[in-house]
Amino acid sequence: MRHRVEKLENPLVLAIETSCDETSVAVVRGREVLANEIASQIPIHRLFGGVVPEIASRKHLEAVDGVVNAALETAGIGLGDLDGIAVTYGPGLVGALLTGVTAAKALAFALDTPLVGVHHIEGHIAANYVQDPELIPPFLCLVVSGGHTHLVKVLDYGVYELMGRTRDDAAGEAFDKVARVLGLPYPGGPSVEQAARAGNAKAFSFPRAFRGEDHLDFSFSGVKTAVINEVNRLHQKDNPLPVADLAASFQETVVDTLVRNTLRAVDRSRMKRVALAGGVAANGALRARMKAALSAKGVQLTVPAPILCTDNGAMIGCAGAYKLKAGNIAGLDLNAVPSLELVTQY
Ligand code: KG4
Ligand code: ZN
Repeated sequence: MRHRVEKLENPLVLAIETSCDETSVAVVRGREVLANEIASQIPIHRLFGGVVPEIASRKHLEAVDGVVNAALETAGIGLGDLDGIAVTYGPGLVGALLTGVTAAKALAFALDTPLVGVHHIEGHIAANYVQDPELIPPFLCLVVSGGHTHLVKVLDYGVYELMGRTRDDAAGEAFDKVARVLGLPYPGGPSVEQAARAGNAKAFSFPRAFRGEDHLDFSFSGVKTAVINEVNRLHQKDNPLPVADLAASFQETVVDTLVRNTLRAVDRSRMKRVALAGGVAANGALRARMKAALSAKGVQLTVPAPILCTDNGAMIGCAGAYKLKAGNIAGLDLNAVPSLELVTQY
């Protein structure tokens, strides 16, 4: 296949994101978002208390064409105007990813336009470029999503160094599991945050992992298990569940751990700027605590708007535009890679 690989300053990219439970298609011109359509499957998965992979794939398949058309219409452009097609190819649910990858490959082939494969976490990091047009690497990024908790040094566009990661549950996963035992609806993060507003964060003292250790890794299975044990203890005694206090105390433990490790990573890396990324970065308590802690150190913080924190096509389009500019084009044999690692991309 013949590809026009041009060194465009701000390429016009259509991006498809289907790694989990949002079918999202965006049109971006470099960092500028012309359309960011999101068809959420949350109401369906809520019935089951979490994402059902087979349902997710089928719903992506049903939605993807319509969301592509909606994005083009919102952006006011035609398919022939595009400089490239970007798509999330991992990590994520394999069937869900495959839907987006197949749609993107079909478009790239039919339009004879370059295809770019984007790492989902690289997309989350790029949400900060969409948020702040002035942001340039290097900076430190705390990525907190449903599947990942990473402290990443962003040395340049597409050049990453991992400083720490979770050894068990991701931060968002812990929110989702705790919400479930507290009887709060999926997705757990926003439900726990809402419940926590009416609670006392000091009501329960939950364990914080790896205190006093030298590394920058995280562990959230201990705090999650402690909440589950507390809930079981209260159930056994037939005591009513103090949902708000449990939610607030859990959230406080997670936020404290995330802020503490980020401050240590700042000290070690001597970075002057921090960015947040991923669904948990939409959490108001985390945003406020991180901002206060970093400004006390004279470190600047970039936080994407909540809609850019959770899964969206715009972040994939922005990351894709940088890859396209770098000439990092995928072949039509691009496949979904469910456990793709975040490595230097180009
Ligand atoms: O980045 P994302 O949309 O998808 C993944 O890549 O995983 O993140 C979803 C995660 C879920 O675990 C969800 O509960 C969590 O982000 N989340 C939040 C909030 N909004 C979403 N966690 C805490 N507070 C929130 N406000
Ligand atoms: Zn995500």
